[in-house]
Amino acid sequence: MEKKQSPETSAPIGVFDSGVGGLTVASQLFETLAFEDVVYFGDVGRTPYGPRSKDIIIEFTRQDVAFMMEQGVKFIICACNSASSVALDEIAGDFDVEMVGVIEPGARAAVEKTKNGRVGVIGTQATINSNAYARIIHQSDPEIKVFSLACPLFVPLVEEGYVDKKAAYLIAEDYLQTMKDVQIDTLVLGCTHYPLLKNVISIVMGDMVNLIDSGEETARVARQRLTDGNLLNPRSSQSPTVAGERKFFVSDVPEKFSQIASRFLGHRVDRITRVDISKY
Ligand code: DGL
Repeated sequence: MEKKQSPETSAPIGVFDSGVGGLTVASQLFETLAFEDVVYFGDVGRTPYGPRSKDIIIEFTRQDVAFMMEQGVKFIICACNSASSVALDEIAGDFDVEMVGVIEPGARAAVEKTKNGRVGVIGTQATINSNAYARIIHQSDPEIKVFSLACPLFVPLVEEGYVDKKAAYLIAEDYLQTMKDVQIDTLVLGCTHYPLLKNVISIVMGDMVNLIDSGEETARVARQRLTDGNLLNPRSSQSPTVAGERKFFVSDVPEKFSQIASRFLGHRVDRITRVDISKY
């Protein structure tokens, strides 16, 4: 679909994810674009997306975006790596809004960072099966060797708060041994939850390996796109330090969301609204 009308600059940015994990991306956005209003949707009722089939992830992502559109957003960030890698290209043309996913910013950052041309990518099963990171890395530099690995246990570990417990180290050691064996110098954290395991992953991989946080890169790209498209909120010049309004929506159990959200954002989130996502 052709992007027809310029949206209002004062409209919010929409951020969505399969659940709570996208808050790692939102928290980067709250720093990089503090003055913007943000609407967050977490599909906690249907999380996780990572082990699901492509068709289901596409169907869910379409509904998530339809909900975002109803909120009148000017720009959408798909914070979920699984949805970004299998669904975004499929549905982007159906909505009259600019969208960015987390794969391309993370992949481009890895290309810039690697010195030895050996890059690791870790993520959910859906992200790894899609080969999306490797595809984009190879568009920039076909010579780079990409080693991909699904680390599904990292998601529940993070959600249960096991980010610095012995179990996290043991599992990380086990998963990441193959990455150490192939001597990567750059590792893409290709899942919303993995930035919370940065400490563990960095201890296991050693400090010679660069860790790429796709969420951080995506916040930077979002700022650039909004600037280039003249879409920054007018507060960016009038009162850039005044924080924008943040609204949180979920598809189930706001209480659990609020508990985990405190860990992800470092502060409580009080106003959370439940949405029937099956209507979209
Ligand atoms: N948000 C997902 C991702 O980044 C992780 C959780 C899930 O599997 O839904 O891939």
